[in-house]
Amino acid sequence: MDEAEFDKFAEEYRALHAANIRLSGEEPEYFAEYKIADIATELARERAAAPSTVLDFGAGVGYSVPFFARHLPTARVTCLDVSQKSLELGAAKYGVVAEFRHFDGVRIPFADGTFDLALASCVFHHIAHAEHVALLAEIRRVLAPGGRLFVFEHNPLNPLTRYVVNSCVFDEHAQLVLAPTMRRRVREAGFAATHVRYRIFFPLALRSLRPLEKALTWLPLGAQYYVAAAKSLTP
Ligand SMILES: C[S@@+](CC[C@H](N)C(=O)[O-])C[C@H]1O[C@@H](n2cnc3c(N)ncnc32)[C@H](O)[C@@H]1O
Repeated sequence: MDEAEFDKFAEEYRALHAANIRLSGEEPEYFAEYKIADIATELARERAAAPSTVLDFGAGVGYSVPFFARHLPTARVTCLDVSQKSLELGAAKYGVVAEFRHFDGVRIPFADGTFDLALASCVFHHIAHAEHVALLAEIRRVLAPGGRLFVFEHNPLNPLTRYVVNSCVFDEHAQLVLAPTMRRRVREAGFAATHVRYRIFFPLALRSLRPLEKALTWLPLGAQYYVAAAKSLTP
């Protein structure tokens, strides 16, 4: 991806995103919040310690920041992105509670083992597939032993997702990734304890059915999915 591609959309990112997902009946914040709530649920289920340092890889304008504050309030969030313009807008809004740092696309500007948890939310479909394993390995480098990774992506097996991506101006160059492929890449990058969960099955109009989603995470038809993984305690 051209480094500056998201600079073009940074100002209008929320409006473009909102227009693009209107079929779902939800606002962009719904999609930002469920991800952080899911991470908190996973950590609680595993009785894992709450993270104190979080890397939001490809954070854009910092959508996740208020939801970390809500669901994982001990986390100090570092937002990393290749788009300088997105970082400037994010820092203007959330700079007091989160750090915004530029990424050169190759080396994350932090020492080995800096973070307890890393999130990549809808980022990897903007990156050439040939670069995925190296970037995942770079994220692994900056995670502490035992640190957790969550990669959220659009599910190309969901027809509505494909429609939404195909009609989205900032997804013009998107290359969607199947969940098993992303999981394999996460493993190739050296992560352990990987699993996939499919998410988002019902639009707002069918929200009364959403309690069923907890039982459907195995079904590869959700609009999005995540791959969860951990950096082993031993090298
Ligand atoms: C669709 S936006 C998602 C932003 C945010 N994670 C969210 O969920 O709202 C994709 C983001 O990935 C960033 N991005 C693209 N290529 C990247 C790369 N190689 N490394 C880090 N971020 C990248 C873009 O600049 C953009 O901010």
